[in-house]
Amino acid sequence: MNEQAAQERIKELTEELEAHNHRYYVLNDPTISDYDFDQLLKELESLEEHFPQFAHPNSPTKRVGGDITKKFPEVVHDYPMLSLSNTYSKEEIVEWENRISKIADGVLEYVCELKYDGVAIGIRYVNGQFDRAVTRGDGTKGEDISANVKTIRTIPLRLRGDDYPADFEIRGEIFYPLDRFLRLNEEREAAGESTFANPRNTASGTLKMQDSSVVASRGLDCYLYGVYSKERRSEDHFNSVARAGDWGFKIPDQGKRMIERCENVDELMDFINHWAEARHDLNFEIDGIVIKVNNYRQQEELGYTAKSPRWAIAYKFKADEVTTRLSSVTYQVGRTGAITPVANLEPVQLAGTTVKRASLHNADQIAKLDLRVGDEVYVEKGGEIIPKVTGVVLEKRPADSTPLEYIKACPECGTALERNEGEAQHFCPNELGCPPQIKGRMEHFISRKAMDIEGLGAETVNQLYDAGLINNMADLYDLSVEQVLPLERMAQKSAENMINGIEVSKLVPFERVLFALGIRYVGETVAKKLARKLISIERIKEASVEELVEIDEIGERIAQSVVDFFAQEHNRTIVQRLQDAGLQFEIPEEQLADTSDKLAGKSFVISGVFERHSRDELKALIEKNGGKNTGSVSGKTDYLLAGEGMGPSKRTKAEKLGVTIIDEAAFEAMLGE
Ligand code: IVH
Repeated sequence: MNEQAAQERIKELTEELEAHNHRYYVLNDPTISDYDFDQLLKELESLEEHFPQFAHPNSPTKRVGGDITKKFPEVVHDYPMLSLSNTYSKEEIVEWENRISKIADGVLEYVCELKYDGVAIGIRYVNGQFDRAVTRGDGTKGEDISANVKTIRTIPLRLRGDDYPADFEIRGEIFYPLDRFLRLNEEREAAGESTFANPRNTASGTLKMQDSSVVASRGLDCYLYGVYSKERRSEDHFNSVARAGDWGFKIPDQGKRMIERCENVDELMDFINHWAEARHDLNFEIDGIVIKVNNYRQQEELGYTAKSPRWAIAYKFKADEVTTRLSSVTYQVGRTGAITPVANLEPVQLAGTTVKRASLHNADQIAKLDLRVGDEVYVEKGGEIIPKVTGVVLEKRPADSTPLEYIKACPECGTALERNEGEAQHFCPNELGCPPQIKGRMEHFISRKAMDIEGLGAETVNQLYDAGLINNMADLYDLSVEQVLPLERMAQKSAENMINGIEVSKLVPFERVLFALGIRYVGETVAKKLARKLISIERIKEASVEELVEIDEIGERIAQSVVDFFAQEHNRTIVQRLQDAGLQFEIPEEQLADTSDKLAGKSFVISGVFERHSRDELKALIEKNGGKNTGSVSGKTDYLLAGEGMGPSKRTKAEKLGVTIIDEAAFEAMLGE
């Protein structure tokens, strides 16, 4: 193909792919099969590779992420990012309307929108090209997080049509879809990692990540709610938003009443009342409704106060709250021995779900609320997914109730609880004899990011423990098929699988074994650092706090924890037994040269054939760089590495689950090849 033909074809493909992307992600109405889409994308990739002079930085092939940015540059906003004044009642809305009617000329029309509970973003487009995306920051200046925002599929990299201002900014809210958020937490819980409290903070944290490929894998989404430009394309806000939809942005759906024009307070209240209920059916969180004066000329007349526009206000929903009876308080013991009190409630409907339990945090919280069994209590569901008890209906307190006494002994093993100075949580010090602590450590040991033992899950670990077959992680390596066969629901095949899985886990690299030991504060990354720096368990065992803190990113607290761990005889014994069983306790010399943690914690599925590497080579590269190979696409997969001839069903599944699909070139880019 000659240059001119290539350039034309690249343009043609780009436009076609953008149109399909828009139909797929924004309109939810694809008109092409995944397979055909893939073929077009491949053709474009190959052309861009051969004619890099025509490869555009905002090409549809550039969605994978993988850029590692060190720090986010600061950017001064062209238009300050203000806030909205809040109202909570119809009366306040009436007051606002009276106030502004006196200032603005003519009849006012309003636009109602959802108040998305996410992270504000301002995205600038120059000549129809994504230029940069900046966070709100302090309102005057924010951070340029373009690389991360570019991974969000509903944000166009190039605009559709040609009727947009040459230079404009569009603002909106990036959020974590609820189904994705719940799944992320499930995965983290399964891996023994702490879960995230709420979708908004998680979205915000995700956007500040250095590695945009992680951001890409999380599936954030965005709604746009305002266009800022010197050149106007519409007379009013409502039409302006509709125009943005034509340019390819995801805008609120009129058919679903996500945006509406209103003429008076009654109509505004109708919209508000509708969403006060309907918001529970959305796959994202909103915390209120935004009401805006529609006409731009009137907006200008009304102007701004120091903090917010006079032409808009937010109506905030009160956190959903109900009352119900507290039937009992039970106590959970975590893997580290931490005690968490839980309120058991008479089941009650709250924010669209039945609530039976709520978190109580700790003893201080219970004392502060003066909580008593039998009390009628207020239960609230705000930004957090887990409801909490916020108070007691004192008027309804039974006359004979007595203050709740916090437990003094561990509910699982009876050991007297302790509480460290300055810490809110009680804990059970019986590390070696308290069942949930023992089980918890073993569950961590076998979890996905640790030993990832095939055929062995948390439930089986519990069964094995209850049957007296194992009492610590080293015991796993003494198990035989005959021993486990009598367990409930254990067939010959599954028993063999499990024993085989345990055997194979002896090949798991040292850094993951180190992580699996469950040393306090030694997470995945720290384990990697320690392993790569000190190379063998022998050196780690003997290292002093002073030596350890010399290592990058290892602070006093971690160093002390490592030293404490190996100072304990029983830990040394277990490690010795694991060594004798043949687990990896050092990094083999030949591996030291070309390993990295570029793919740390990422799980890959490889499918199809590739141009430059065999599948085995790719698998080895993944392992060497800290990633993991798995056989089939699941919710736990981070990347589907797609080659020639991959079946369309794999792609569909990956897309459904939000798994990022990458090709050989993108994979190489991740490794910096
Ligand atoms: S308009 C001058 N519309 O709420 C501010 N904001 O409290 C004009 N927000 O930081 C903002 N949904 O990030 C507007 N439909 C919506 C919104 C919305 C959420 C956020 C926005 C802003 C905050 C203001």
